Amino acid sequence: MTSPARRPIVAGNWKMNYGPSDAHDFVSGIFDDLDAITSVDRVLCPPAISIAAVHALTQKSGIMLGAQNMHFAEKGAFTGEISPLMLQGLCEYVILGHSERRALFGETDELVNRKALSAFAHDLKPIVCVGERLEDRDANMTERVITTQVRGSLAGLPAERLGELVVAYEPVWAIGTGRAATPQDAADVIAIIRALLAEMYGAEKAAPVRVQYGGSVTAANARDLAALPDVDGALVGGASLTADFVAIVRAFAESVA
Ligand code: PGA
Repeated sequence: MTSPARRPIVAGNWKMNYGPSDAHDFVSGIFDDLDAITSVDRVLCPPAISIAAVHALTQKSGIMLGAQNMHFAEKGAFTGEISPLMLQGLCEYVILGHSERRALFGETDELVNRKALSAFAHDLKPIVCVGERLEDRDANMTERVITTQVRGSLAGLPAERLGELVVAYEPVWAIGTGRAATPQDAADVIAIIRALLAEMYGAEKAAPVRVQYGGSVTAANARDLAALPDVDGALVGGASLTADFVAIVRAFAESVA
């Protein structure tokens, strides 16, 4: 069960799926069930081009929106990029440093950190992703990789506002593979992340940071993950494209009931 002081947060990362019209249809279909689960923060992260279409449906509800990425700058000659100013008023959250951004688009801890600082400066709550690759885990490097990512990506954030920060622990080998981390693996790494944040910001300031697990979360395994004391929610990829997302949110709601 999530710590009573930290409200669970389940976010759906749609990745490059559902343009505006499909996004509208999908959200219309799950809207009532999702809106009804008020004990969990529910965040939908459509592709940028579909954010406005989903916002039109969700603006008067408790369902929140997140972007999947953003540039750190407010405007300028950055072809193809989305700025924090453009997200304001539409999104409360922004996913940063997803492993696909890191591996396929060359994002470094330094860049993710600039984006996280910019998110705070523009009143967007960052969901910062960290996670080791299979080769890191096999080489017993998990702790070292996570330490580098957490220290690098999460440096210098406003300590008083850490309640707005979400960290997603997403082992790369579990993303899209159908092979979720065991609850024990997830709990072990999340304990490392919490200890690092406490070192960086002091235990009291770091306490409200929410840490999600991500990687092959499904309606079938969500209950076991939600039962772990330090898992404050989930970042869901594939299963967030179906009504299974509602079942996953419900599992976290039941864990705090
Ligand atoms: P998955 O993706 O749930 O499809 O494994 C998770 C993620 O990439 O955030």
